[in-house]
Amino acid sequence: MYAIDLFAGCGGLSKGFMDAGFDVIAGIDNDSAALETFKLNHNGAAALNADLSKPETFDEIDRIAGSRHIDVIIAGPPCQGFSLTGPRNFDDKRNKLYLAVFEAVKRYKPQAFIIENVPGMATLYNGEIRGEILKRFKALGYNVECRILAAADYGVPQMRKRLIFMGIREDLGAPCFPAPQFAPENYRTCRDALSDLPGLTDTLGTEESEYTSAPKTEYQRLMRGGCSVLHNHTATNHTQMVKDTIALVPEGGNYRDLPKGVGESRRFHEAWTRYDGNKPSRTIDTGHRNHFHYEYNRVPTVRENARLQSFPDDFVFVGTRTQQYRQVGNAVPPLMGYHLGLAVKAVISKEDGDG
Ligand SMILES: C[S@@+](CC[C@H](N)C(=O)[O-])C[C@H]1O[C@@H](n2cnc3c(N)ncnc32)[C@H](O)[C@@H]1O
Repeated sequence: MYAIDLFAGCGGLSKGFMDAGFDVIAGIDNDSAALETFKLNHNGAAALNADLSKPETFDEIDRIAGSRHIDVIIAGPPCQGFSLTGPRNFDDKRNKLYLAVFEAVKRYKPQAFIIENVPGMATLYNGEIRGEILKRFKALGYNVECRILAAADYGVPQMRKRLIFMGIREDLGAPCFPAPQFAPENYRTCRDALSDLPGLTDTLGTEESEYTSAPKTEYQRLMRGGCSVLHNHTATNHTQMVKDTIALVPEGGNYRDLPKGVGESRRFHEAWTRYDGNKPSRTIDTGHRNHFHYEYNRVPTVRENARLQSFPDDFVFVGTRTQQYRQVGNAVPPLMGYHLGLAVKAVISKEDGDG
């Protein structure tokens, strides 16, 4: 089954769909570094650098698809700037990126689609945006449902929640979300994910490319696969002030654990958070300033964040380190994508899912 990935980024969602057996023929985005990463890791899929708010982008997609019918559309449109203000009109040009997803579904009539957004989208404008999206896809001939899913339920060692819309063409059936695979008491933890990776305490600022220990957990074995070279594992060389400050935060703590007068420059929400090794991590974000390793006095490396997002070790990120962190933080965890892919496949091919 052929799929295209709109707003693909580095392709976390489509990596999951590929692992579930879909042939991802193209990823479309306008961030060239993310697309370089996409291309390197997606088995010959086209990486199209284009603005999805422009109608001519769809002509390019037609050209890439050729005679192949697009069976599934997956999409992660950014929802910053969403608006129903003024005439409370969804067609407002500020929503143009979402409108591109309607356009794609209308044009290709796929058997199914998946759209991913931040959970806050569900309640924006008292749920009016969500309601409008459901209504519009219904009018295009789809059974659509949306749900907030927790990545940890699917084996991702991270407390990340995402709003997922699943649409199935009316003649094919109804959406069916993947059943959780892990109960909260068995969630994978930061330690499960990272304890085999070199701590880099003596090699700050240089890339470490060798594994120095065997995998210690089933998850580490899963992430390593047959990979023998460690990629994207470079520790940030923080200032002495940052190292001294984070050294005062216990495992699982944050800025509230600091003595008065210390770390005052960052005193908000998740500042100076040190992960708890025995729990899943907090939601990985696109920056690399506020979350620290459970054991070492530094932020996690790109590879450590990738592990917490369930990217396998042979998925290599390119671009500057800031771009790499952004690509990882923006992504749908591939393991979550995999279970979504299996669920979609089960409905449209009338197979049993993994639920
Ligand atoms: C949340 S990220 C998608 C992450 C992706 N689904 C994944 O799993 O890796 C949103 C993406 O939309 C892209 N984007 C933003 N505006 C765009 C536009 N006008 N045209 C194409 N892509 C755009 C950004 O570059 C970013 O990579």
